[in-house]
Amino acid sequence: MAPVKKNVLITGANRGIGLSLCKAFIARNYNVFGSVRPESRDDPSVAELRKTGASVIEFDVTDESTIAAAFDSWGDKPLDILINNAGAPTRPRMWDEVTAEALIDKFRVNAVGPFIVSQIFMPALEKSKSPKIINIASNAGQIAANKDGKYMAYKVSKTALNQVTRSLGMQMEMTKSKVIVAGIHPGWIPTKLTGMTGPDQMDVQIPKIVKTIESIGASQNGGFMDAEGKIMEF
Ligand SMILES: NC(=O)c1ccc[n+]([C@@H]2O[C@H](COP(=O)([O-])OP(=O)(O)OC[C@H]3O[C@@H](n4cnc5c(N)ncnc54)[C@H](OP(=O)(O)O)[C@@H]3O)[C@@H](O)[C@H]2O)c1
Repeated sequence: MAPVKKNVLITGANRGIGLSLCKAFIARNYNVFGSVRPESRDDPSVAELRKTGASVIEFDVTDESTIAAAFDSWGDKPLDILINNAGAPTRPRMWDEVTAEALIDKFRVNAVGPFIVSQIFMPALEKSKSPKIINIASNAGQIAANKDGKYMAYKVSKTALNQVTRSLGMQMEMTKSKVIVAGIHPGWIPTKLTGMTGPDQMDVQIPKIVKTIESIGASQNGGFMDAEGKIMEF
């Protein structure tokens, strides 16, 4: 009998790191589900995602009702890996351009979004034998490593995401859940989010990230690591 394919759901799957992760998991014989925002439905990037063979699911991580509707259509199947990848851009850059709206908007997409998606999809994760929640975090969220203060709203939101990873991981452990939660900094890769800047290469980073995701075990629960699985300071 052919082995049962694992199900992976990747948010923000129509471009950048999300799209590349979809392609990599399909190549490794997973059933891949990629989420796109309803407002981006007609963007050419969504057609590109469909071409990969991924099943496309629509929700906006800032709109709980759309996530709940997506979960209703998920059905009874287990969710083996949830990758909270959707993220809002790094700008504005300097402190005097940062507004309350910018702080709140980044926080909603980059910290609240991954938590609410995880919470809503938890019943499907609990149906898996070895469920994992992977938050695509960032070294921009590291407090002690912050030497220039640029991109404050983005940094604040990614610091909060690290606390979501840690807190949810600890709660899973305390309640003896099988669900493992970890944050991965993917590297600095040219994408729309970074304004196509960055010294790392997508085709080098993605295989490392996939290997790390597959190898993460209970001892890394609540942790924050780089693409190769090396533990990073919060
Ligand atoms: N690239 C890097 O160097 C780097 C470094 C560290 C961490 N990261 C993290 O990696 C993740 C992916 O970023 P990327 O670099 O691949 O950027 P990207 O190419 O700009 O992709 C971002 C994705 O997130 C989606 N998204 C944004 N807001 C959303 C919302 N409210 N609901 C649902 N989806 C939403 C976007 O959808 P639309 O197409 O509809 O906008 C897009 O699919 C982010 O969490 C980012 O913070 C990236």
